[in-house]
Amino acid sequence: MSILIVGGTSGIGLATARRLAATGADVHVASRDAAKVAAIAATDPELVAHRLDGGDGPAVAELGARLAPLDALIVTLAGAEGSGTLAELDLDSLRRAFEAKYWPTLIVLKNALPHLAERASITLVGAVSAHAFLAGVAGIGSLNAAVEGLVRPLAAELAPRRVNAVSPGLVDTPWWNGLSAGEREAWFSAAAEALPVGHVSTADEIAEAVVLAATSTSMTEAVLNVDGGARFARF
Ligand SMILES: NC(=O)c1ccc[n+]([C@@H]2O[C@H](COP(=O)([O-])OP(=O)(O)OC[C@H]3O[C@@H](n4cnc5c(N)ncnc54)[C@H](OP(=O)(O)O)[C@@H]3O)[C@@H](O)[C@H]2O)c1
Repeated sequence: MSILIVGGTSGIGLATARRLAATGADVHVASRDAAKVAAIAATDPELVAHRLDGGDGPAVAELGARLAPLDALIVTLAGAEGSGTLAELDLDSLRRAFEAKYWPTLIVLKNALPHLAERASITLVGAVSAHAFLAGVAGIGSLNAAVEGLVRPLAAELAPRRVNAVSPGLVDTPWWNGLSAGEREAWFSAAAEALPVGHVSTADEIAEAVVLAATSTSMTEAVLNVDGGARFARF
C-alpha cells in the first residue's frame, strides 16, 4: 500500500504516518521545510520524507508520478492565521490563511489525481471552527468549511475512489507554536476544563480517525468530528 501525506512531517500528519507505517504500508511524508524533512530520517527511518510545497502543482504532479499508483492521499497541511472577531479580523491575514490551507489542498488534489489508484482514498483535515458556536472564528471557520466542502462533491465525482475529512477540535501540536509556552499552557488547561472530554486532543487521537477514514473501504463522503465535544463547549 503506497501512501502520501502532504503535511506529514509534523503534528497530526506525522502521527498518522507513524500509525500507517506500523501496519506495513509504504508511507511517504512531504512538506516545505528542509530541516523538518531531514529530521524524519533520524526520528522515523520507516518513513520516506520529501521536500514539497503543496501549492506547487508541477512538483506535486512530479512526486505523484514517482509514487504512483497511490492507494491513499492524505492532506494535513495548514498555516496558523485567520482568527479574530469580525471587528478585529485582519483580512490580509485571512487571505494568507486561505493561501496556506485551502489553495494548496486543492492544488495537491488536482495534481495528484492522475496518480491515484482506481480505488484510492483521499482524506482531508478541516477543523471544528467550521461547525462551532464560537466567537472569533468566522474567518478561519469559513476556511475550514471550504476545505470540508470539497468532500461531498469530490466523493460523488471521483467514485469509486473514497473522499472523507476529519474535523478536529483543539490538538496539542506545533500548530500552536505561535503562543509562548506559558500562554499555551494556560489556554490548554482552560480548554481542557471546558471540553466535554476533559482534555485537549493529542495528535495520535486525531491520527486514529484519519487512518480509519483512509483505510475503511466502505467509508466515503464522511466528515468525522473528532473534537472532544468542542462544538458544544463554552470557552
Ligand atoms: N492543532 C490543532 O489544534 C488543530 C485543530 C483543528 C484543525 N487542525 C488542522 O489539522 C491539520 C494539521 O495541523 P497540525 O496541528 O498537525 O499542524 P502542524 O503540526 O503545524 O503541521 C502542519 C504540517 O503542514 C506542513 N505544511 C504547511 N504548509 C504546507 C505546504 N504548503 N506544503 C506542504 N506542507 C505544508 C508543515 O510543514 P512545513 O512547514 O515543513 O511545510 C507541517 O508538517 C491542519 O489542517 C490544521 O488546520 C489543527
